[in-house]
Amino acid sequence: MEFPNASKLAKHFQFVEETGSTNTDLVDQAANLPDFSVLVAGFQSGGRGRSGRQWEAPAGSSLFVSVLLKPKDLSPAKMSWLPLLAGLAISKALNELQLEKRASLKWPNDVLIEQNKISGVLSELVSDLSGVVIGAGINIKQKQAELPIENATSLKIELGRAPRHDKVLALYLKHLRDLYDSFVIHRGDAVLSGLRYQVMNNCQTLGLRVKAILPGNKEVIGEAVGIDDSGRLILLPDGAKSVMAVAAGDIVHLRHN
Ligand code: BTN
Repeated sequence: MEFPNASKLAKHFQFVEETGSTNTDLVDQAANLPDFSVLVAGFQSGGRGRSGRQWEAPAGSSLFVSVLLKPKDLSPAKMSWLPLLAGLAISKALNELQLEKRASLKWPNDVLIEQNKISGVLSELVSDLSGVVIGAGINIKQKQAELPIENATSLKIELGRAPRHDKVLALYLKHLRDLYDSFVIHRGDAVLSGLRYQVMNNCQTLGLRVKAILPGNKEVIGEAVGIDDSGRLILLPDGAKSVMAVAAGDIVHLRHN
């Protein structure tokens, strides 16, 4: 697999045919790598998803990519926006591919085409808190039978043909770079940089009735009404008079517009 275009957009670019998990590798190497270092694999034997789940796809069928972001002078609290920023960059990239249906975010960082998942993001803080590794899996070539769940899709299913991995990655890195630069220039202020506005505009979760499965397996059902200055989902629980902020958890969309 070759990445002539995508590799130009990274400070440091590595491709490996196979590894356990690009996230694990990049977290391990983080101290010796610069900001905006990229690691891509052709296959992952131990790919990891959110909430301890696995992330599996046949060799060469999808993009397995991790990006190390080491913003200077940004508190770990501001870094909570980076996975949302990455999901937004992926949905912007996919929307440049002449899809018939729009790609949009499901909070916190899945990318869906209508109701079907095409990409997921797993972010991990590096041990000295100097940065975050943003791992993304983007389904490119899979047929329906090769996808792990029924409500998943791939670019091949959506477009009738699979674009080159290099093209998809270059589009993603271009949008990631633009959004990241603007966020860092504004010292991690998601409102002033316009990031919060763009995420809210691109997030199909807002306005829906949802079930939030919170850490500890507590469940809350209500309406997703907004995203706050820290990137948390604002929920109005059924029967409640005031809203609550959800920082982490799994969200199930119960009703679609
Ligand atoms: C999810 O939706 O659960 C997140 C999936 C993230 C998968 C990517 S693939 C590249 C990177 N390496 C990993 O082990 N996981 C992420």
